[in-house]
Amino acid sequence: MAILVTGGAGYIGSHTCVELLNQGFDIVVIDNFSNSKPEALERVKQLSKRRFKSYSMNILDSCGLDRIFQEHEIEAVIHFAGLKSVGESAKMPLQYYHNNLNGTLHLCRMMEKHNVRKLVFSSSATVYGHSEICPIKEHFPLTATNPYGRTKLMTEEVLRDLYQADSRWSIALLRYFNPVGAHKSGRIGEDPNGIPNNLMPYITQVAIGRQEKLTIFGDSYNTKDGTGVRDYIHVVDLARGHIKALEKIRNSTGVDAYNLGTGKGYSVLEMVAAFEQASGRNIPFSIADNRPGDVAVCYASPAKAKEILDWEAQIDIQEMCEDAWRWQLQNPNGYENEDNLVTLHARSANVI
Ligand code: NAD
Ligand code: UD1
Repeated sequence: MAILVTGGAGYIGSHTCVELLNQGFDIVVIDNFSNSKPEALERVKQLSKRRFKSYSMNILDSCGLDRIFQEHEIEAVIHFAGLKSVGESAKMPLQYYHNNLNGTLHLCRMMEKHNVRKLVFSSSATVYGHSEICPIKEHFPLTATNPYGRTKLMTEEVLRDLYQADSRWSIALLRYFNPVGAHKSGRIGEDPNGIPNNLMPYITQVAIGRQEKLTIFGDSYNTKDGTGVRDYIHVVDLARGHIKALEKIRNSTGVDAYNLGTGKGYSVLEMVAAFEQASGRNIPFSIADNRPGDVAVCYASPAKAKEILDWEAQIDIQEMCEDAWRWQLQNPNGYENEDNLVTLHARSANVI
């Protein structure tokens, strides 16, 4: 039996694949590489010293997906595949609803057809909208403030309906807070397309010289130093949360949501200071207006995940910064490092 991982070449997916393989799970990966590179999967294989099948495929491809469920004995699905940029989702909502919502509906229909009813879904803390109260607990009111967030909220609702209609389903809705960091080896990490939107990849690109300076969005929030506070969680801790969620859904039925965060909030200035200490590099910054749609403070109560999944984040902010920096330093251009570029050029010239 294998675990099907959709979006397994992406940032969180690749780290989760390594953990799954290290724990002895067999996996099958599908990814259309719309926001990732096949090289990430090669490195997952190197790190885990295990082989697995991967398919360059869209989750909306009916025939392809059907074939995968026929050819492999799939026990459960961990579903990362999705588009994730808030700003982009406001500009192209149809693409986001099609990819994220239709994609998940399609995947679930295929799962149902092949009698697979165990699913771990990548949701997000964005489903809490602008919560006034922190730490945020799973039963807090849910709302969406942009199309991306709405795709997550709507998918959560669809999955709850699915269980209501058929109690054989077992579904974990994992609400991630702010994933950062990279695998200790520095071989896999976050590789955003274009200019990063999120804080940590922006900081690491300033440190490596790809961006000139950080712009801090607002310093007059009602927080310890005026800058926004978030719950940053190491991506390997997050990946391990998926293993725990998988163990839970393998042995039960139902649908339940879990926060995956540390329960601690750090400000932008604290993150800059922690990163400077970890990297020994200076991060120049300037202060700008608040980013529209931002909240002052957002951090999780991770108590439910601890109680029910027996999971809790272990890795502190210093290590998150050290690991993010190691990845950036070893891969200044992400997966398109010089060796890969040489290989790609040679391939296109039919040299190899
Ligand atoms: P990512 O973009 O690195 O990974 C997503 C992967 O899915 C990519 O490899 C992409 O190529 C693939 N993909 C997208 N659409 C696909 C499709 N239709 N068919 C096949 N593959 C497809 O993103 P990530 O940071 O690893 O996030 C994984 C999931 O977690 C996403 O669903 C995202 O919305 C969610 N999430 C991410 C964060 C975050 O800050 N990174 C926070 C909360 C939730
Ligand atoms: C963003 C998304 C959110 C998503 C989350 C996942 C927006 C509005 N929200 O949230 O939906 O679930 O990522 O990781 O995009 N900051 C700067 N300068 C920068 C970048 C960020 O000062 O260049 C600040 C932000 O104002 C915020 C903090 O850093 O206070 C973290 O920002 P970011 O990494 O973008 O995460 P979120 O805002 O939590």
